[in-house]
Amino acid sequence: MHRSEKIWLILSFGMILIFMGATGYQAFTYGMAPPGGMERIDPQKVDETPPFDQPGIRQIGENEYEVVMVLQVFSFVPHDIEIPAGSTVHFKLTSKDVIHGFQIVETNANGMVVPGYVTTLTQTFHEPGEYLLMCNEYCGAGHQHMYTTITVK
Ligand code: CUA
Repeated sequence: MHRSEKIWLILSFGMILIFMGATGYQAFTYGMAPPGGMERIDPQKVDETPPFDQPGIRQIGENEYEVVMVLQVFSFVPHDIEIPAGSTVHFKLTSKDVIHGFQIVETNANGMVVPGYVTTLTQTFHEPGEYLLMCNEYCGAGHQHMYTTITVK
């Protein structure tokens, strides 16, 4: 093998190792793994599995709500969420079909929703307004239409 070939091979493998190390270090040190406790669900039986058999909003404390939501091509169920300003909302999400994204624009709420798993994330809405909720994982031909709004009053 030519000497410069060896050098380039070593350099490129070294770079791969450095990037993998950096990504792994970040994921474990800062908890940047996909959100949720890796709770499993049968994606074929979402409609029969509590709490996803009754998706919707539930008040669980003075300023605390739980939103159970099912994602599917190309919609969020329920899609008409309205909550009072100052509320903390615990989202429980799952997908019936393919991988979807769950991003509430201009907040830190951003998660991947993988069929077979339950994704959980929590967001407090201080300011009233209309928050754009969108799918940020390409999920098929209607991906660009997969969005809705969360109304905070
Ligand atoms: Cu769902 Cu993109």
